[in-house]
Amino acid sequence: MSTERYNQHILFSARPQGEIEPANFDLIDVPMPSLNTGEVLVEVHYLAVEPAMKGWMEARADYMAPLQIGDVMRGQGAGIVLQSQNPKFPTGTMVSGPLGWRRYLATDGRSIPLRAIPPSASLPAALNVLGITGLTAYFGMLDIGKPQMGSTVLVSGAGGATGSIAGQLARISGARVIGVAGGREKCDWLISDLGFDAAIDYKSENTAQRVLELCPDGLDVYFDNVGGDILDVALNNLAERARVVLCGGISRYNVSGPIAGPVNYFNLVYRRARMEGFIVLDYAERFPEAIEALLQHLDSGELRHRETILQGFEQLPQALINLFSGGNIGKQLVAVNT
Ligand SMILES: NC(=O)c1ccc[n+]([C@@H]2O[C@H](COP(=O)([O-])OP(=O)(O)OC[C@H]3O[C@@H](n4cnc5c(N)ncnc54)[C@H](OP(=O)(O)O)[C@@H]3O)[C@@H](O)[C@H]2O)c1
Repeated sequence: MSTERYNQHILFSARPQGEIEPANFDLIDVPMPSLNTGEVLVEVHYLAVEPAMKGWMEARADYMAPLQIGDVMRGQGAGIVLQSQNPKFPTGTMVSGPLGWRRYLATDGRSIPLRAIPPSASLPAALNVLGITGLTAYFGMLDIGKPQMGSTVLVSGAGGATGSIAGQLARISGARVIGVAGGREKCDWLISDLGFDAAIDYKSENTAQRVLELCPDGLDVYFDNVGGDILDVALNNLAERARVVLCGGISRYNVSGPIAGPVNYFNLVYRRARMEGFIVLDYAERFPEAIEALLQHLDSGELRHRETILQGFEQLPQALINLFSGGNIGKQLVAVNT
């Protein structure tokens, strides 16, 4: 915990023209918040970055209100309650929620909704496997993908936050899991640490050829984090009654002109397959069920998580930019006030 306390915010200051740049943000000094009745003072320790932020910055993600210029940058965070006038969150409670890019904040726990983090969990885990990331993997893979014992599951973006959890959940269901990720280090991690059966380095291997070799009977489930060419390869290799889970499409997030659709979509017809998108927030009522299941998998050691952590509040824009070049293994976080 820091000894000298001062507060800063990072504001969203300009819509990106193409790729996100540091100039899209402003770091400002602000006073330490004072506490009103019913409020808590939270010291932020970790903030998470997500590819979806690009859509919020462009006012393109139409499932959520767009960011306005001058807003505190929106984002999930985790920290410690330093002072409390709210019995629900006593001093010392570990909390997470949409804290925004702030070092310190005061909230009654509703204006900025707070969740108490289970005492057995760490703050990074609360933003990764027990946060929106784990919940996305859980509902996307288990509710939509529905992997079965012995089925073949392909996951793209597998070396990132959501993909690494989604693939493990399929493995825990008894499926054979193949990950697609950029670079040998990520592929080795998937196989040796997370128990994936195989991994394809899409940056140095021919993905279409490798999917054919590794999945001769086709894919029962494809969990898509990236879209583009890899989605097309998956569509070309579907098994009968396959499920294609559309979680994300990062390969299109930086494209400003028209984007080509998947050429091989008609294979959905031939294979009697289904392709379904989802937004994790629609499952909010079932979050407690999912967190309990994820905690059990963590406790049993069946599920692992990893974070790539940049040090320093001012690193937030760079951490976000790094997602688009694959700089992260597992969940990209920024450590603040530590
Ligand atoms: N539907 C929902 O409710 C929901 C909720 C949360 C997240 N998502 C989506 O889930 C996906 C993963 O999010 P995350 O937070 O877990 O991020 P992440 O996977 O931890 O980070 C993004 C990863 O994408 C890969 N990537 C970047 N550009 C790429 C490209 N052009 N082609 C292929 N791969 C590329 C990079 O890994 P490589 O090194 O492998 O390239 C990078 O590490 C995103 O598309 C996000 O929008 C959806």
